[in-house]
Amino acid sequence: MINVVVLVSGGGTNLQALIDSIEAGEVSNATISAVISNKKDAYALTRAEKHGIPSDCISPKDYDNGEEFAEALLAALEKYNADLVVLAGYLVIVPLKVIDKYYGRMINIHPSLIPSHCGPGYYGLHVHESVLARGNKVTGATVHFVDEGTDTGPIILQKAVDVMEDDTPEVLQKRVMEQAEWKILPQAVDLIANDKIYIDGKVVKNRR
Ligand code: GRF
Repeated sequence: MINVVVLVSGGGTNLQALIDSIEAGEVSNATISAVISNKKDAYALTRAEKHGIPSDCISPKDYDNGEEFAEALLAALEKYNADLVVLAGYLVIVPLKVIDKYYGRMINIHPSLIPSHCGPGYYGLHVHESVLARGNKVTGATVHFVDEGTDTGPIILQKAVDVMEDDTPEVLQKRVMEQAEWKILPQAVDLIANDKIYIDGKVVKNRR
C-alpha cells in the first residue's frame, strides 16, 4: 500500500475524484495520507476533512525564503510518509530540492494535451482560452511525472476531449475535467501504486 500526499490550491475536484476512486476500489494499493494546501481557505481542505484525511497548510508566504519553504514542504512529505506526491491544481512552483528528491514519485495533472498549451503561464482558464483562440478541434488532459521544467516531465496518460464551436473557456474547462482529468488522474495513481509503469529516459513505459 502506498501513501499518497496530494498538494492543492483550490477547489479540489481532482482530489475528490481520487478520493472517490480509492473508496470505490477503482484505485488499489493506495491511501491518501494527507492533503497539503498553500491556502488556508482552499475548499480541497474541507473535502479532506469530510473523508477523515489529515491536512496541513504550508504557504511560501509564511517563510522568509524559498529554502525554508522547501524544508517545510520536505518535512511535511516525510511526516506523512509520502511514497507518491500528486499535484492536483497546485499553483505553487515546487522547489527544485523537492522535485529532485521525489523525481519519479511526483505527478501533475495538466488540462491540455501536452506539448500544446502548456508551460509558464498556462494554468486554469488560460489554458482553455488558448485552445479556443487557436481554434483547436480537440483538446484534453495530461498526467505526467514532474521534472525541473514546467509541464515537461515524462507523460503517463493523456485523454482527448472534443472542442465545440460555441464553447466558452469555462464550458470547455468543465468538459475537460469531467471527461478527462477526473478519469486519468486516478488511473495514473493506480498504475504507479501497482508498479505497472516505469520511466525510460523521457518516456513512460508499461512493465510487461
Ligand atoms: C485543474 O484544471 C487541473 O488540471 C489544474 O488546475 C485545476 C484544478 O482544479 N492543474 P481542482 O482544484 O482539482 O478542482
